[in-house]
Amino acid sequence: MSKKHSLSTQFVHAGRKKRFLQGGVNPVIQQASSLVFENLAHKKQATQQRAQGALFYGRRGTLTHFALQEAMVELEGGEGCYLYPCGAAAVTQSILSFVQTGDHILMTGAAYEPTQAFCNHILTKMQIDTTYYDPMIGDGIAELVQQNTKVLFLEAPSSLTMEVPDIPAIVQAARRVNPELVIMIDNTWSAGVFFNALEQGIDISIQAGTKYLVGHSDIMIGTAVANKRCWAQLREQSYLMGQMVDAESAYMTARGLRTLGIRLKQHEENALKVAQWLAEQPAVKAVYHPALASCPGHQFFKRDFTGATGLFSFELQQKLNPQQLSAFMDHFTLFSMAYSWGGFESLILHYQPEEVMAMRPNIARKISGTLIRVHIGLEEPADLIADLEAGFARLNER
Ligand SMILES: Cc1ncc(COP(=O)(O)O)c(C=O)c1O
Repeated sequence: MSKKHSLSTQFVHAGRKKRFLQGGVNPVIQQASSLVFENLAHKKQATQQRAQGALFYGRRGTLTHFALQEAMVELEGGEGCYLYPCGAAAVTQSILSFVQTGDHILMTGAAYEPTQAFCNHILTKMQIDTTYYDPMIGDGIAELVQQNTKVLFLEAPSSLTMEVPDIPAIVQAARRVNPELVIMIDNTWSAGVFFNALEQGIDISIQAGTKYLVGHSDIMIGTAVANKRCWAQLREQSYLMGQMVDAESAYMTARGLRTLGIRLKQHEENALKVAQWLAEQPAVKAVYHPALASCPGHQFFKRDFTGATGLFSFELQQKLNPQQLSAFMDHFTLFSMAYSWGGFESLILHYQPEEVMAMRPNIARKISGTLIRVHIGLEEPADLIADLEAGFARLNER
């Protein structure tokens, strides 16, 4: 398969080599820890080729894992893909693979909160310093690169407040100061395909596959696709840290890929319709959807991304009091309240301004109204709009 095929075609065919399918349409689920060698020559060859797709031992992967890993490389480019038991593991192990005591990393101050907590609670124990930068810093990042800076970590768009950074400016400015820097991105929002991280000079594109790749809110997995420069180190260090995912989860993720093209199109279309409707509601101060001009960094989204997905947030004019919050949030019929996103169903969460600030203490942008984050699923947008409209009506009744 080649990049000349459209994305939808790539999703259907990626990684489906005869070796993995064994006569079926989907890869086999090879449930194995021990992998048996036929003779000494076979054992020797498998040992030599254990990092290059030979069946060696379960922790190095089976045909099921290899099928998904190859699919991810076909989709995102790069040299290899490591699989982790969840997105958080993909983030933390990617960072740990490239740092040691005394090093320094640069982390976006608007990162997914557990990513920041990992820096604050785990990296600090190893005397690895973190400097948080504002996602809108652009080429100002150059001033923050120190002699011992080993990793620059981006997330785009930002968690919750959805700023879209000027990624090429950040990457180029940081590289000018230190060409050896390992640059990684949490690329979950774009499903790894609406922002081509590796083509933009980023070394490692990380996803919580739990979200769009799986798409059905029932499996946890993380992926990290690395370029040639970083692949061997990421692979071997992650392997040494015992990172592994079970064959069933790898199978279900590859299965999710087959419908991802059509799902992403629908998430994009539905979310845009809901976002545009929200932008016209008097109770809404601003909608932070990267495809709308009201989202900080919208110009960079238009330039650097080829599509949008289903997650965005909006700020209300006011900070809701507990009674208003309960009236608004407790009675939706289609939106469920749950952490996570990327599944077929719509979700909603609220964050009070002080909670948003506590989750991003290092960046300047402030929120004064209640922030609502929605993930727009595959329901009919008119039905979702009616559900939200009823929520606003409940607010007015009070
Ligand atoms: C942006 C982002 N990155 C990483 C993660 C972590 O993924 P997981 O829950 O699979 O560990 C999440 C989970 O919500 C997320 O939203």
